[in-house]
Order: sequence, then structure tokens, then C-alpha cells
Amino acid sequence: MQLKIYKNYQSLSAHISDEMIALIKHKPNAVICCASGDTPRLTCQLFAEKATTQKIDTSKFTFIGLDEWVGIPSDNEGSCRYFFDSLVIKPLQLATSQFHFFNALSNDVVAECKTMDKFITDKGGIDLMIVGIGMNGHIGFNEPGVSFDNYSHFIQLDATTITVGQKYFKDNVSLDKGITIGLQHLVESKEVILIANGLKKAAVIKTAVEGGLSNSFPATIIQKHPTGVVAIDEEAASLLSR
Ligand code: PGA
Repeated sequence: MQLKIYKNYQSLSAHISDEMIALIKHKPNAVICCASGDTPRLTCQLFAEKATTQKIDTSKFTFIGLDEWVGIPSDNEGSCRYFFDSLVIKPLQLATSQFHFFNALSNDVVAECKTMDKFITDKGGIDLMIVGIGMNGHIGFNEPGVSFDNYSHFIQLDATTITVGQKYFKDNVSLDKGITIGLQHLVESKEVILIANGLKKAAVIKTAVEGGLSNSFPATIIQKHPTGVVAIDEEAASLLSR
């Protein structure tokens, strides 16, 4: 596992968006899976801006959303789908065939998971995953106690996720279950970058990087990935002992 520390949120986001651009230049049909949330917001915004200003051919790459709140429609501003629609899909005018998201309103979430897994297999696997870390150590909706061997699955959300998750919504919503790419996908992804910023993430970053590998703190899985990168700002790195 490699640790990369940047001065602040802006330089972290600039670097990660550059990595996305570099990947697409090198491999135009790359498959990128990205988390939504406060951490990747600027990365996604810069990625779309840079791809446009640098006239990068974005017509062949594939974009996958990491997770979704079950039962939250895509036109709700707090949904993961809404996040990607506004920051990536619409600005880059991606064709429908170029992206795949979990349908949060599906009445068959098991089938939804199978469809996602098949989509990833058919594309030849994920080239780059960009994930955040939750205040309970989750990645996507891989909540504490999750099996490291899971592919896509749906899950009862942890109390911390339900409480913290309200920050994405204008009005209070009832959050209960999540649907997510699994940690086995993460292990199999060619590259993985876990990003975090701010003092509030310092303690969880310390556990993810220096704690023992354990499914009670899912983000420790980054230690298991052969080329895993933890890219954080100075504040998020402030409790690390090295
Ligand atoms: P955040 O979410 O980027 O909004 O802090 C991280 C997460 O829960 O994975």
C-alpha cells in the first residue's frame, strides 16, 4: 500500500483528476468506478472540466457508480446517481452505453446486483476504483462486519451511515438499506485509490492505514490490494505515526 499526502483538498482533487485523465489517455476504453460524496466531489468536477478543456476523447471509457441508497430516486439531490449525472455524465455527454449505476428503485435488488457484476465482467473488470472512507470505516456501503469476499450486494446500513448520510439530503429522509459494489471487486480492480480529506477523517485514516486488517473496519482492505493507494490531505494524515 502506498501513501500519498497532499497539502489540501484542492491539490488532492487536482492530482486524482489528473490520474483519471492519464488513464483515459493511455487506455481510452478504461473502466472507472467512483464513489460519490463530499470527498470525490471536486475530483469529479475537475475531471469533467479537464477532459473538456484538454479535448480528451471520453467516448470510449466506462463509468460505474460505487453504490446507492435503496429506495431513493435518481432525481433526489442526495442520491449517488444525481451526483454523477450532474458532475460527470451530463457535462461529458456520455452515451447511455458508457455508464452503469444501481437502480435504487428496483423491486429485485438481487437481480440488480447480478446485473452490475455481469456488467463489470463483460467490460473486462475495473481499471481504477476511487473510493472514500466513512466515519465507521466503510467503503461504499461495505459496512463493518461485511465479508471481504462479496461482489455486489445489498446491506442493512449501519447506524453511523444512516446518521451521517443525512448530510447529502435537503430534507430528512428515511435511510435503511444500501446497494454496493463489493470488496472483492476492490481487490480485483487493477488500481484502487482511497481518498480522504480534513481533520474529521484523521482517526479513520489512522485505523485504515495502521490498524490490523479486519472486516470490522472494512477500509483496512486497502492494505490487501497489491497496488492500493491511500491519497489524503495533510489534515487527514495528521494522526499517522509515520
Ligand atoms: P464523504 O463520504 O466523502 O461524504 O465523507 C465518505 C463515505 O461515506 O464513503
